[in-house]
Amino acid sequence: MENIELNTIIQGDCLDLFKGIKDHSIDAIITDPPYFLGVTNNGMRGTYSDLIIMKPFFENLFFEYRRVLKKTGCLYMCCDWRTYPFLYPLLEEYITIRNLLVWNKKSGPGTFYSFSHEFIIFGMDIPKHMNETSVLTIPAFASGAKKTNGEKVHPTQKPIELFEKFILDSTDEGDTVLDTFAGSGTLAIAAMRTKRNYICFELQEKYVKIATERIEAYKGNFNPDIKNYNTEITLFNQHAINT
Ligand SMILES: C[S@@+](CC[C@H](N)C(=O)[O-])C[C@H]1O[C@@H](n2cnc3c(N)ncnc32)[C@H](O)[C@@H]1O
Repeated sequence: MENIELNTIIQGDCLDLFKGIKDHSIDAIITDPPYFLGVTNNGMRGTYSDLIIMKPFFENLFFEYRRVLKKTGCLYMCCDWRTYPFLYPLLEEYITIRNLLVWNKKSGPGTFYSFSHEFIIFGMDIPKHMNETSVLTIPAFASGAKKTNGEKVHPTQKPIELFEKFILDSTDEGDTVLDTFAGSGTLAIAAMRTKRNYICFELQEKYVKIATERIEAYKGNFNPDIKNYNTEITLFNQHAINT
């Protein structure tokens, strides 16, 4: 594929689709890969060592991230307490990791303390100051994101506000952001709301369809209620609306 079209959800394996993206053309990669540790095909729970079979996939992925990301670009990659130690040494071979952000989801049952947070690996090669807190308190679907995001349509859907925050922190209007694991198209919607271009890849046809439908529903339709929802997320939503 030559030169991928901006602002579309493209179906396929992200490793195949990368060839359509030019070197150093992406301003930020904001992405949420499968954690591969949920319930596996045979009904058993995955373990940390199961991830080893994914090593070549992630090495190829991170090589491509380095190739397409501008030298001044930023990378945000969602992970959790089990996937972080696996991803870190692989990723740092390609992109300078600068911090591990904490997403306080304001929800999460659990027997061994609650699972009310996830992590986001933050990387950038050429350093620039990010005068922001590393702990982001943004409701997940279990704690109210439905009010601003609508019904949940993907099992691991992230709230738009989370990705919107990263876009606003690290890119300018007209820039291009990439999500290689688009799911329901959350990054695409965050990009639309903040006037950035997006490139989104998604393997499964059903989620490409869902994401495309979400995008159509959002086109030119910024939810005016969003800025009143929660004081912790008002600031950046307000910023998005003002720009
Ligand atoms: C954790 S979900 C992303 C959810 C998304 N952030 C959202 O808010 O809806 C990961 C997605 O990556 C997709 N996926 C898995 N392997 C892929 C691959 N090799 N290329 C492209 N997409 C892939 C899965 O189908 C799944 O929808």
